Amino acid sequence: AYRADDDYDYLFKVVLIGDSGVGKSNLLSRFTRNEFSLESKSTIGVEFATRSIRVEDKIVKAQIWDTAGQESYDTCPISVTLDAWTCLKASTCCVIGYRAITSAYYRGAVGALLVYDVTRRVTFENVQRWLKELRDHTDASIVIMLVGNKADLRHLFAVSTDDAKDFAEREKTYFMETSALESTNVEDAFTEVLAQIY
Ligand code: GTP
Ligand code: MG
Repeated sequence: AYRADDDYDYLFKVVLIGDSGVGKSNLLSRFTRNEFSLESKSTIGVEFATRSIRVEDKIVKAQIWDTAGQESYDTCPISVTLDAWTCLKASTCCVIGYRAITSAYYRGAVGALLVYDVTRRVTFENVQRWLKELRDHTDASIVIMLVGNKADLRHLFAVSTDDAKDFAEREKTYFMETSALESTNVEDAFTEVLAQIY
């Protein structure tokens, strides 16, 4: 049967979280536009993109939210306090703005990709902190995928696959290693989250 392009059965909000530079924005652009950038700039404020996929006989539209992984912005262009709504509409807002948007960012999210960089151990150590923030702000039923990105840099691995698997098992999250650069497992990571939500 004919269905319009923007027709869908379910709309799921999925958030991307994790330290700065782990590749969140490139995972998003790879999944929604099949694009990758070697020189991407750190995300400012909040961005989102959508893509619809088929799960069984239903069309699931994913609305994927992306923000910067930085906690404090030394070079923030806006230094005033913004309320959550103004902040979401502004193209740039940070420092206090980032904290202000935290609850708006997580509100209604039913899925999350918690990303670390397989070549930087500290980004994996911070996963615990991200998980806490996520759980503090979302429903217990949220589907979480732990994502070890930059898996193309095999010779630089600083986090073993087994360590990450163990962690994911303990925390009851899904787990996948991806490469936004080589387009490995990106499709699978997002679609698995969407299928599990569904
Ligand atoms: P913030 O917006 O600051 O939180 O960072 P981010 O998590 O969005 O990271 P971003 O997508 O901007 O990527 C940071 C850098 O890592 C960029 O130079 C990317 O080109 C690079 N990068 C992202 N994904 C991969 C990957 O899979 N492999 C490799 N080798 N580099 C990657
Ligand atoms: Mg980004």
